[in-house]
Amino acid sequence: MITCQKHLFSLPNDISYLNVAYMSPLLKSVQAAGREGIETKVRPYELSIDSFFSPPEHLKALFSQVIQAGDKDRIALVPSVSYGIANVANNLKAKPGDRIILLEEQFPSNVYSWQRKAAETGAELVYIASPKDMQNKGKLWNQAILDAIDERTVLVALPHVHWSEGIVFDLKSIREKTRQHNAWMVIDGTQSVGALAFSVQEFQPDALIAGGYKWLLGPYSMGLAYYSEAFDNGLPIEDSWMNRLNSEDFSGLVNYQPVYKPKAQRYAVGQYSNFIGVPMQIAALEQVLEWGVDNIQAYCDAISKPAIQQFREQGFELCEDEQRSKHLIGVKLPAHIRPDELKASFQKEKVYVSVRGQYLRIAPHLYNTTDDFERLLACMSTLS
Ligand SMILES: Cc1ncc(COP(=O)(O)O)c(C=O)c1O
Repeated sequence: MITCQKHLFSLPNDISYLNVAYMSPLLKSVQAAGREGIETKVRPYELSIDSFFSPPEHLKALFSQVIQAGDKDRIALVPSVSYGIANVANNLKAKPGDRIILLEEQFPSNVYSWQRKAAETGAELVYIASPKDMQNKGKLWNQAILDAIDERTVLVALPHVHWSEGIVFDLKSIREKTRQHNAWMVIDGTQSVGALAFSVQEFQPDALIAGGYKWLLGPYSMGLAYYSEAFDNGLPIEDSWMNRLNSEDFSGLVNYQPVYKPKAQRYAVGQYSNFIGVPMQIAALEQVLEWGVDNIQAYCDAISKPAIQQFREQGFELCEDEQRSKHLIGVKLPAHIRPDELKASFQKEKVYVSVRGQYLRIAPHLYNTTDDFERLLACMSTLS
């Protein structure tokens, strides 16, 4: 198994950072790439036309590898998940009586566009409730999603891993059911891609959007999106000159070009060259690929296992192991635990996790060890 990689980060030794699901720390290599990126603007006379296009193309190729898309031109650089989702919403055809299926308590960037779409078209939003019982929660939730998909469904928009509970959804069976009814399946991969294997070839989503600053270890304001053939003739939410054919020819830009670059390239955000962010995200994905996503998942599983057993022994509830992710762990807090008291204890001991709703969300990475989980458990024990 891969060993602890803390030496590649600049995390102090007296803190336990278990909060990638909030914001990942930067790798030293990513920090260096950002600094180099700043230098680009110090000497603009060294900036070639190629530097606008080659680094983003490289980044697209890396992300295509991470999600097994097999084609970098299916990838578009976006600044946020809300942006990538807005491109999907802009192309979804819906009418009164149609249904858009979402999960209860989904992250808002994968909700607001659908609320607007429903208001504009008369389509109905259906939120699939999270089962109250922890036993078999993942399986029951999945089944409820499958049961809701029918001939009225035009879209199912959901994450691969729930952002607070860590439940993994069965995208393969959801894809099969959506296909039977010609509905789109759109995935917010922000809390999974980079730490849990995602394969476009296996799941065949219509679109997948992932923010870069969590499990992709990149900077803020950077995201990556995959758009399938369903979007090839669609309308992007803005019209960057960079996304038109032959935009590399800077002397011909006012020969206005009606044709977009092929496949997903029309959906990239304006100024996607981002001379600081793109090299940072490249350095991050190179490292993620070198480690291997499956190894990251396995490492998180190994270092969290003893603590999870203790949580269970102490009466905390977690979803069954095969229904939950190992990098984003949701521990249900008993009613008697006061979140403010818990947060104060974490703060005092310099243990960084999130409390989201009724859940303690623990999100480790390769810089953590079992020691961090022991410190977390020690904080919890002062409460009961
Ligand atoms: C599941 C999920 N999606 C998206 C985001 C971020 O969305 P955006 O890039 O629109 O700010 C988060 C941030 O916490 C998230 O947890």
